[in-house]
Amino acid sequence: MEPRFKKIDHIGIAVPDLSQAMAMYEALLGAPATHTEEVASQKVRVAFFEVGESHLELLEPTAEDSPIAGFLAQRRGGIHHLCVEVEDIEATLRAYKAAGVKLIDEAPRPGAHGKRVAFVHPKSTGGVLLELSQRAEP
Ligand code: CO
Repeated sequence: MEPRFKKIDHIGIAVPDLSQAMAMYEALLGAPATHTEEVASQKVRVAFFEVGESHLELLEPTAEDSPIAGFLAQRRGGIHHLCVEVEDIEATLRAYKAAGVKLIDEAPRPGAHGKRVAFVHPKSTGGVLLELSQRAEP
């Protein structure tokens, strides 16, 4: 059986001010963000920085009911989620559902870069909000 997780796609970091955080991370990494985007389905504006074959994703809320706004209200910021790339997101969700894994998204939704994504509840992952992501078809 092939392992389901292909690689760590990115680590998501919640920030209250995207442009300020982008300047901070540009200085830390010594390179600018490679991609910025507004993700309407998640009510966030995001910026990606390349780190080898994976990325850091900075997320700023665009609405008060954004999941990131709720996270920032409880903490001042910090690591919000871990994203792994999977080969087949629907098959993974089906297998998880059958195994009783607690899912936030039972079906994939549109994420950044035109990828399909779904979140797994921290109750089923040892306390980590886990994002599954499948590459967009070329
Ligand atoms: Co993400």
